[in-house]
Amino acid sequence: MADENRLVINGNELRFEPGETILEVARRNDIDIPTLCYLKGATPTGACRVCVVEVEGARTLVASCATPAAKGMVVHTESPKVVEARKMIIQLLLSSGNHNCAVRGSDGVDWTAFQLKVQAEDSSEELCPVWGDCRLQDLAYRYQVSGDAFEGTPTPYPMETVNPFIVRDFSRCILCGRCVQACNEVQVNNAINFGYRGSPTKIVAAEDKPLRDSDCVFCGECVQACPVGALVEKNVRYQVRPWETEKVRTTCTYCGVGCQLELHVKDGKVVNVTGAEGAPPNYGSLCVKGRFGYDFIHSEERLTKPLIKEDGRFREATWEEALDRVAGRLSEIKDQSGPDSIGVFTSARITNEENYIANKFTRAVLKTNNIDHCARL
Ligand code: FES
Repeated sequence: MADENRLVINGNELRFEPGETILEVARRNDIDIPTLCYLKGATPTGACRVCVVEVEGARTLVASCATPAAKGMVVHTESPKVVEARKMIIQLLLSSGNHNCAVRGSDGVDWTAFQLKVQAEDSSEELCPVWGDCRLQDLAYRYQVSGDAFEGTPTPYPMETVNPFIVRDFSRCILCGRCVQACNEVQVNNAINFGYRGSPTKIVAAEDKPLRDSDCVFCGECVQACPVGALVEKNVRYQVRPWETEKVRTTCTYCGVGCQLELHVKDGKVVNVTGAEGAPPNYGSLCVKGRFGYDFIHSEERLTKPLIKEDGRFREATWEEALDRVAGRLSEIKDQSGPDSIGVFTSARITNEENYIANKFTRAVLKTNNIDHCARL
């Protein structure tokens, strides 16, 4: 290889940038290597080993997410050795805790039998709440393995449901550490970490307190990072399945940052919100308001008709009446006291377009520059 920054992956000679890992080079070139613990932008931990690849001349398989690309490397991402290792890893993960998706009990059967078994079990009760939206389940399907090869190890920790937003189901946790990295490296909240040692290992908040009593600010970054059903939004759990919803991209209006959201819409109702991955300015991250503060959208308490206050009480009015009243009073005040006797407050929570209209209305129609915004409006 004349160019020193080149390696070969699955027979393709590829360039790499100094510092890039094998996984990054592969992904940049549309070569699929499965991952579970890898979280883009965070320090690679090499915890799950699902991303192992074979490097010619290396003594063992290496974790592609944590191994830097090197000059002259020859890499195989789906060799028999790699596939065998991945199957074993997935089997071990599935047998640890409660992964009761339909892939259990399907080892060693041909593809048709595997599919028939899955179909038969898909309707069983108490399936995992993220059935159909789980990276571990995806891998179990891809490599056609279950957790029945090993004796299961039930988790000793009960489910935590004592906060309004997130259900923590330790029986489904695979200890990949993505939630810990999301909390500590992406949001820098430092609210959770690995606790205990050996088989009792658990993701804990300080002093192993419930999230409600910890430093957690409920940004939900951990939920979005969780590849399995260990962290699930409380409102959504068992309420919707991923294929029932349509995703609608929009901009959060809670503040002026302009975070990009994915609204998950079922039957015309917003049933969940996630951050839009890969899109500036938030790249998938959200705050507690953006992620969980959407129930007002369909609240029955929302005002749908204008109200006019008379004798200290509000009464419903038509839009025509309300607009006429506002226009009449503004004209009156302007005629009597001049345009600078009027001021307009807009809000940081409305859209750019709405603020633009308010600005035009204030300056061009009311003829005053008295316009400002109030973050609490
Ligand atoms: Fe590389 Fe988990 S994704 S070790």
